Amino acid sequence: MISVANPQAQVVALRDEINTAIAAVLDSGIYILGPKVQQFEKEFAAFIGAPFAVGVANGTDAVRLALMALGIVVGDEVITVSHSAVATVSAITETGACPVMVDISPSHYCIDVAAIEAAITPKTRAIVPVHIYGQPADMLAIMALAERYDLKVVEDCAQAHGAAIGLQKVGTFGHAAAFSFYPTKNLGALGDGGAVVCKDAAVFDRLQCLRQYGWKTRYISDSHGVNSRLDELQAAVLSVKLKYLESGNGLRRAIAGRYSEALQHSGIIVPKIREGATHAMHLYVVQSEARTELASHLASYGVATALHYPAAIHQQAAYGQKAALSHTEYLYQRLLSLPMYPELGDAEIDQVCLGLKAWNKE
Ligand SMILES: Cc1ncc(COP(=O)(O)O)c(C=O)c1O
Repeated sequence: MISVANPQAQVVALRDEINTAIAAVLDSGIYILGPKVQQFEKEFAAFIGAPFAVGVANGTDAVRLALMALGIVVGDEVITVSHSAVATVSAITETGACPVMVDISPSHYCIDVAAIEAAITPKTRAIVPVHIYGQPADMLAIMALAERYDLKVVEDCAQAHGAAIGLQKVGTFGHAAAFSFYPTKNLGALGDGGAVVCKDAAVFDRLQCLRQYGWKTRYISDSHGVNSRLDELQAAVLSVKLKYLESGNGLRRAIAGRYSEALQHSGIIVPKIREGATHAMHLYVVQSEARTELASHLASYGVATALHYPAAIHQQAAYGQKAALSHTEYLYQRLLSLPMYPELGDAEIDQVCLGLKAWNKE
């Protein structure tokens, strides 16, 4: 079966380099927040085009700590989407703020800017747009709105390492941005990892304290903080993999091109890329009213599919919200993810395309 994601494939391809990087950490005797983390933070910030990056334990913490560093506290309202990983909303809730989920654009799947404005109340303090599947949200409109209402913006870039609008990478538009290095992400660690990227030196300082018990200096806490550190092994692996991120994203886009071509005249709706944007193609997600049948059809060709996600967050018990989100709810009956990772071989891509072309023709 051709899987939807395959983090092991990159490890196999880069095994020698990764082994060397791991051995260097083992020999160094430093295992948490050491020189490898500092080196990776610098490299990652440079890749994104931001002045600062702070390594943290995972992407959920990256969203949470970014909000905390920007001053979001108990009782504030934070506007985001229901169409995301639960982590986005969980992170907002962890700060004590109230997540307010709004609808998405039916064509690009990212937060609907008009819906943000309609949801703003006197308690609103921040917006968390999600670059879902690697598709950049409409950041220029979101930042203009944020400025008008004096709101902070934390970009959730967990699925969008290297995505851009024009020449500007996502993660550099908002006041801060959160990245996940979960193993299946476009830049994935061999375990958990995350980073917050920011422009402001004061926010950078706060993040460095926040991720380690609020320490201003060792053992001395100036403010409340948490334990959310990146370890040396993950940072060393991430530095190796970062060198291949841009080429990996290119391969993802080429595979997406092959799928979209195979789906011409199929009645299946393929991903629509925002004009002027570079999609990171973390996931290739199609829309079909017959997605269950499509999934079975592809399975008969040895092609796995997945749902991202099986239930909208506003309809889940933990984060239920009464207001209906019509585009989100409609799309949750129709979206289906196809295999997408850079190491997919030609024969596998051909096999997926064979299955796609045969849809509706049997
Ligand atoms: C959009 C989004 N936000 C946040 C996260 C959380 O990242 P992590 O799993 O590293 O905590 C993820 C990853 O699952 C994600 O896809």
